[in-house]
Amino acid sequence: MSNQDMADSDWWRQAVVYQVYPRSFADHDGDGVGDLPGITSRVGYLKALGIDAVWLSPFYPSALADGGYDVDDYRDVDPLLGTLADFDAMVTALHDAGIKLIVDIVPNHTSNRHRWFREALASAPGSPARQRYHFRDGTGPDGSEPPSDWPSMFGGPAWHRVPDGQWYLHLFAPEQPDLNWDNPEVREDFVTTLRFWSDRGVDGFRIDVAHALTKDMSDPLPSAPDLTEQQQPLVGDHPIWDRDDAQEVFREWRKVLNEYDPPRTAVAEAWCHPSRRARYARPESLGQAFNFDLLQADWDPGIFRTVITRNLEASAESGSSSTWVLSNHDVVRHASRYGLPAGPDGCGVPAELGQDGKGWVNTDGTTPQLDPERGLQRARAASLLLLALPGSTYLYQGEELGLHEVADLPGDVLQDPTFERSGHTQKGRDGARVPIPWTREGSSFGFGSGGAHLPQPRWFAALSVQAEQDDPASTLSLYRAALAVRARLQGGESLVWEDSIPNLLHFTRPGGWHCLTNFGAAPVELPAGEIMVTSGPLHHGLLPQDTTAWVVAAH
Ligand code: NOJ
Repeated sequence: MSNQDMADSDWWRQAVVYQVYPRSFADHDGDGVGDLPGITSRVGYLKALGIDAVWLSPFYPSALADGGYDVDDYRDVDPLLGTLADFDAMVTALHDAGIKLIVDIVPNHTSNRHRWFREALASAPGSPARQRYHFRDGTGPDGSEPPSDWPSMFGGPAWHRVPDGQWYLHLFAPEQPDLNWDNPEVREDFVTTLRFWSDRGVDGFRIDVAHALTKDMSDPLPSAPDLTEQQQPLVGDHPIWDRDDAQEVFREWRKVLNEYDPPRTAVAEAWCHPSRRARYARPESLGQAFNFDLLQADWDPGIFRTVITRNLEASAESGSSSTWVLSNHDVVRHASRYGLPAGPDGCGVPAELGQDGKGWVNTDGTTPQLDPERGLQRARAASLLLLALPGSTYLYQGEELGLHEVADLPGDVLQDPTFERSGHTQKGRDGARVPIPWTREGSSFGFGSGGAHLPQPRWFAALSVQAEQDDPASTLSLYRAALAVRARLQGGESLVWEDSIPNLLHFTRPGGWHCLTNFGAAPVELPAGEIMVTSGPLHHGLLPQDTTAWVVAAH
């Protein structure tokens, strides 16, 4: 980005945002955990990749009960990751390279080590300290039953009992007590946090679980045993998810964010029904919302086309731009997803199968077989398709190397709370969080000098930055080329579907930019013009199966 772009208040509308999961990106001090100086040392890599912004997952002090999404202090840096001075140095280095920074804000819950929660535990039932959270008496004759039947997203009940007999709500792990957003003190404190990071030069925020902030805590609590199945209500009065009253919070935040020049951006992580996403994306709300529809879609041209059309319509309606995501730190990497047969779940999840800890399982118990080559080929085609769409694209560290999920991590190294809370049946998300391979060899493939906090498989060598950077056929070269061409071609935000044969997705963008993805077995002819990028080799000039091409039409 040029200096002029850095000041542009619309910079986010068609930005390529790269997610850094800091503990697994680059380890500068050799303690096995990635850190902020590690990120600073790799700014040159990020610049060469051609991204517009970094989204940094939580780097705050945390006991890592949930990968840093259990925050002890919202206005500091985890000592394992560095200091506030390291943060400032990282912001300066990113900005000097023309890269914006978005940080993660986790407002639904603090950690159980946050000073507020420690104060709540040390205070009496009904005290102001407890009213920052959701403390309740239990049910049953002696209060030994949880206050409601709500389940936690990580398995087990969403209530935990404290020694004096009361219970507190945690929609996620017990180490993540939910905040009470009816409490004005909670609201004020988050505004202070938004200002704290905005004043330090942060350009935007990613809002964790934005769709759960407000809850129906009426007495008695509504029954909702199937909460985890019900994340996509169509109206805004569900007890937990996607309530209309959460928007009051975001309207207040938007006023604060608009006081800055350029206004600070915000993107909602809201797993809501697509028809309700616009609420978060409106200019008077957060301004943008993640669309996870393609991430959940099967590799099917009809489904892709429907999802794309629907999301472009929704973003036009809200005045926002669309967001596109195929991978993040919470889901199976898309190179692996696309290599698994479409099943009842659309894909398998890594599971603890037998003693060897290997393998995948569908929710119906069947075990799908991974085809890694096909998965990567489709992933490259899907990423190139995504990068041609109007709106902003969110990439997850390592996808530009074509990394697969590390599905065979043994149980004793797993960190995700899902593993314990599912009774060791679900491995959880660590397979997408294994530290990045920078070099072919060496301690932790160049991640750091002191090993890696999750073991890296031997096949990482061939997918390291060093192995890929000078190979024109590598996935890294594909991403670099695609981002450079996109920066030149990206113009207006419109898209026109072209008439096409079955199994081909073909659309054009302003300036004669064609994007074609062939989902079918028969090779397809490309339109006349200059072939800018392809996700794989052409066959005798034709576009083969599971391949995307960008062509700029001859005038
Ligand atoms: C969504 C985050 O992306 C995920 O990693 C985390 O476990 C939950 N929110 C809870 O904060």
